[in-house]
Amino acid sequence: MIKLPIQPEFFTQPESELTTIEAAVLAEARKAALKAHAPYSKFHVGAAVVLESGEILSGSNQENASYPSGMCAERVLLNYVGATYPEAKIQLLCIAVVSEFKDNKRVYAPCGGCRQVISESQARQNNAPIDIIFEGPENQITRCKGIEHLLPFTFQLF
Ligand code: THU
Repeated sequence: MIKLPIQPEFFTQPESELTTIEAAVLAEARKAALKAHAPYSKFHVGAAVVLESGEILSGSNQENASYPSGMCAERVLLNYVGATYPEAKIQLLCIAVVSEFKDNKRVYAPCGGCRQVISESQARQNNAPIDIIFEGPENQITRCKGIEHLLPFTFQLF
């Protein structure tokens, strides 16, 4: 048996060390979380991207009384970006959580379904890696360079 050379890499750093643009995108994700429709979970999530053009776009989770009809913040945003800017290249995706249930000691990484959708966005841009930043632990952020770190052995049809 041979061990496969797959080594996901994550980095953590104090939020204060973010570049100006990174801090701006994270701030947009936090602002977007305030617009979440999350009456059922009370877990407000915001996502924001910066495109190669410099444009910043954001979205939030949108829940539904019929629970499976709701959608995570990342998917709301990335499907909008794909539909509205089909040629756009996403450089950075930030994800933020605002909730009474938020535990500051924890790291809030995107859910599995959203990882698959982030993977599709990255595939659409010839796999140019999307930087991903998410919150925690404490006043730090956790980050990786490309969805392959969060989703090794990604499913792709082509
Ligand atoms: N949620 C997101 O928006 N993004 C994730 O990556 C995980 C979960 C939302 C879905 C639901 O509205 C709420 O958080 C609780 O699961």
